Amino acid sequence: MTKKILILPGDGIGQEVTSSMSEVLHYLIDEQSLDFQISERKVGGSSYEEFGTPLTDETLKIAQNSDAILFGAVGGPQWDNLEWDVRPEQALLGLRKSLGLFANLRPAFLFNELASASPLKNHIIEDLDILIVRELTGGVYFGEPRGIVENETPKYGFNTMIYNEDEIRRIAKVAFEAAMNRDKKLCSVEKANVLEVSKFWRSIVSEMSSDYPEVELSHQLADNTAMQLVLNPNQYDVIVSGNLFGDMLSDIAATLSGSIGMLPSASLNSSSQGMFEPCHGSAPDIAGQGIANPIAMITSLAMAFEYSLERVDLARRIESAIKIFISKGLRTKDISNSKEFIQTKEVAPSIINILKDEHE
Ligand code: IPM
Ligand code: MN
Repeated sequence: MTKKILILPGDGIGQEVTSSMSEVLHYLIDEQSLDFQISERKVGGSSYEEFGTPLTDETLKIAQNSDAILFGAVGGPQWDNLEWDVRPEQALLGLRKSLGLFANLRPAFLFNELASASPLKNHIIEDLDILIVRELTGGVYFGEPRGIVENETPKYGFNTMIYNEDEIRRIAKVAFEAAMNRDKKLCSVEKANVLEVSKFWRSIVSEMSSDYPEVELSHQLADNTAMQLVLNPNQYDVIVSGNLFGDMLSDIAATLSGSIGMLPSASLNSSSQGMFEPCHGSAPDIAGQGIANPIAMITSLAMAFEYSLERVDLARRIESAIKIFISKGLRTKDISNSKEFIQTKEVAPSIINILKDEHE
């Protein structure tokens, strides 16, 4: 059956990294004669400039009909002062919500060769390999009521942090199952010492633990996890958390690996439809200079092959090609510890050459 793929480059370095990813994708389509149908649309600030909205109805419709969406990044200082509903971030939040992409998988791993690029000491981050499972369509990001009240004194703003048991169960299930396929350790993170929603979260996750007797479950308070991630990240295997804490913890985890330019993510719904995007943003400070690291975007393609395109074999091949690429000493600027580095556009051709060599 034809698989439908939508590429949304977005803004800033999103455009540079998706074009590298696209080269790898097209190489594999040719090599494997894959029956893929590919569309590409603008999103975020670039879509706002052309259509006055960060996400057009047409693009949303194509997204809803796609098996996998490959998303670059959105945002930039020129759009920071736009009205709330046309800000570039709304495209991302709108896609997540309307496709029901509740399960956000954010792996953080270290290529030991890159340990010196990490801000932490080598012995702390060596062999780092953790998976953050972040709930993505609920919690305080989407809770109602919400708003800003200006006609009272004092004026105020408010949001609602809410999770019902079904939302907690479905994300915890993803996390328990991921742990079963890894080192069988799951840490659930919230603020059960302060928030009722967290206390409730903890009770549901605890209840589910009897369905997964092999998984060692622990609970941690989010502030402690933030500290522990920097002190001793290797104590974790899988971390599961709500939308807001998961957002913060995944940035910390990504930084441990040396460069946020290395890490992919997958956002999945219950029918294995997924959006795949690098953990980094649009990096306006380096956009257009040809120095962005496209590896996170290319590994996001690997995740698309694994989770939505039913070709785990190709996911493994991309990942192993990236390992070889790193072991050859090839480095983009963000991960180079010398003055020498390669340009964004040199990365895909090297990875394709490795894929070719390994295929013969
Ligand atoms: C992320 C980003 C988004 C989020 C922003 C851009 C809306 O930080 O994907 O982690 O907060 O979820
Ligand atoms: Mn974030």
